[in-house]
Amino acid sequence: MDKLVIQGRRPLRGSLPVSGSKNAALPLMAAALLADGVTTLQNVPTLRDIKTFAHVLRISGASVKPDPERHHMTIDASRIDFPEAPYELVKKMRASFYMLGALLGRCGQARVSLPGGCAWGPRPVNLHIEGIKALGAEIDLDGGYVVATAPGGRLNGGSYRLEPSSVGATINIALAAATARGGSRIENAAIEPDVVEFCQALEKMGARLNGIGTRTLEIEGVEALRPITFRNSPDRIELGTFMIAAAIAGVPGEPVRLTNANPDHLGADFIDAFRRTGAVCVIGPDYVEVTAPQTLQPVSITTGIYPGFPTDLQAQWTVLLAQAHGSATVTDTVYGDRFNHIPELNRLGARAMVAGNTVEVEGGHVLKGAQVMSTDLRASVSLVLAGMVAEGETHVLRIYHLDRGYERLEEKLANAGIEIERVPYDEFAQPEPHAA
Ligand code: EPU
Repeated sequence: MDKLVIQGRRPLRGSLPVSGSKNAALPLMAAALLADGVTTLQNVPTLRDIKTFAHVLRISGASVKPDPERHHMTIDASRIDFPEAPYELVKKMRASFYMLGALLGRCGQARVSLPGGCAWGPRPVNLHIEGIKALGAEIDLDGGYVVATAPGGRLNGGSYRLEPSSVGATINIALAAATARGGSRIENAAIEPDVVEFCQALEKMGARLNGIGTRTLEIEGVEALRPITFRNSPDRIELGTFMIAAAIAGVPGEPVRLTNANPDHLGADFIDAFRRTGAVCVIGPDYVEVTAPQTLQPVSITTGIYPGFPTDLQAQWTVLLAQAHGSATVTDTVYGDRFNHIPELNRLGARAMVAGNTVEVEGGHVLKGAQVMSTDLRASVSLVLAGMVAEGETHVLRIYHLDRGYERLEEKLANAGIEIERVPYDEFAQPEPHAA
């Protein structure tokens, strides 16, 4: 297991490139299973979650070839003959549950492990299952697996209303509906950029969709889809993370440029809150330039579905608030208890207190380096950000969480002036007794 060692208080300078989106690439990979042939995806990040999902696809019979140099991936789904996603892989990554819709759509049957627990919870999949049932699938639960069958080999299609709106359920239901015999309708569908991109890819594959990017998504089933070449979008959460990094660790008056980005995907609420902190951001077509202010203003945020403030950026925002002049709150309405990073940030000297689904942050206290532990992907990156502004040395442990969703983070930060190093670390080694 590795850890990151950060010497804090080094200024962030120059530019940071944004990698391809994890959460957009995963459904594109699932969609590739619907087409008999070779799909090519471009701008695919090299990440642990992408590797895990590639393996899930291979289990079903697909041949998946990543090209990390060019960030391409080819998926040959000519032969899908084992419609199953095993527990060993699904437990590592919940998005593997997309196999339910993809395999049903392609093979008319699927046996997919239920994801089980999460680093924060609960994260149910009831809407995925009920939505797919509404399309006509017969569903049983067997030994922790969801066993789904399309009577007669193909689903009929149907209507389902998501409550609450769900990114994953919209994608899963759309995967199953694309090759159904009849039409389907998803009400209160997710309109996150990841979902819109996925729908556009399905359309390019020959699916018939109506209402892409609106709350009512209609899908008229077609007999079969064709393989395509599709460019994955830049990661909007990585962009938001880098914007926060530039605001807290940049040099006032010196812009930091974030490149290969798609600023449109951030949503209005994040940009608005960001500007109210006093940080200056210049938004270009594929870049954002952020200039840190002399003093950060405290700005309270509440997460919400797109175009609301992303829940995947609230942990990072807490670090920004810890650097601000005054107090403010972070409220998460999407996941009410995604706060495992708070005790770790407090170990660094932050003053943050959880009350219900809100964190109250008293800014302006000097952070001091310490050993801290990652608990999930976004929590880990918040610890890295805190380490960057803390006095002295911070060790961030269990960074396998970070590797799930941030590509070569330490390399990118080091190229922009941050003193950060990945070192091997044995978490279970016993400390030596103190010599007398
Ligand atoms: N929900 C249900 N039942 C369901 C599904 C969802 O009640 O069957 C609820 C959830 O508990 C939550 C809300 O619906 O309160 C929204 O969850 P959603 O289904 O939209 O989340 P997801 O699809 O499981 C994706 C991202 C998450 C991100 C959320 C919210 C992927 C692979 N994951 O999860 O990303 O936080 O949308 O935007 O796309 C991350 O990247 O760190 C991450 C966790």
